[in-house]
Amino acid sequence: MEHGDHREGEVSVTLPSAFDASLVFIGRIRTPFATLADCPKNPREGQVEATVEIDPRYIAGLEGIERFSHLILLYWMDAARRDLIRQTPRHLDAPRGVFALRSPLRPNPVSLAVVELIRVEGTRLTVKGIDCRDGTPLIDIKPYFASTDSVPGARRG
Ligand SMILES: C[S@@+](CC[C@H](N)C(=O)[O-])C[C@H]1O[C@@H](n2cnc3c(N)ncnc32)[C@H](O)[C@@H]1O
Repeated sequence: MEHGDHREGEVSVTLPSAFDASLVFIGRIRTPFATLADCPKNPREGQVEATVEIDPRYIAGLEGIERFSHLILLYWMDAARRDLIRQTPRHLDAPRGVFALRSPLRPNPVSLAVVELIRVEGTRLTVKGIDCRDGTPLIDIKPYFASTDSVPGARRG
């Protein structure tokens, strides 16, 4: 969707003129999905191998990562518009606030996926379970802890 376009019920805001924080991208996620249209709708549907390429300056930060079967990736949806705070996704019949959606279109287009770690080769991590376009910038990696990150029986509206 182009910036400025709206579906029925959608609301956009004027974003602040200055940012509150700055980020550094620590790498890129290389996926088989060349365009947004090629991407799966969510990480669970993206059960193909992808490569996380970490900037070599951060290699010491990967020490011990192979201990974990799953990782949380936080990445930056760089092609997403940021002003649409109420949205009408195609799969819903009514508009919903951005903070009640997993949409990539948000004031800070941060996305997350719990991926399976297949192997580590230097600064390249092979993972499975990702939904982003090839080249999407990576913000952070954290190990996934089933003991604290999983909420069995959580309610989904
Ligand atoms: C619905 S979002 C789910 C986001 C994420 N997994 C989450 O829940 O935090 C996934 C969609 O984001 C879109 N997308 C993928 N890579 C993107 C990028 N680099 N910039 C903007 N949108 C992207 C694709 O249309 C993909 O199907």
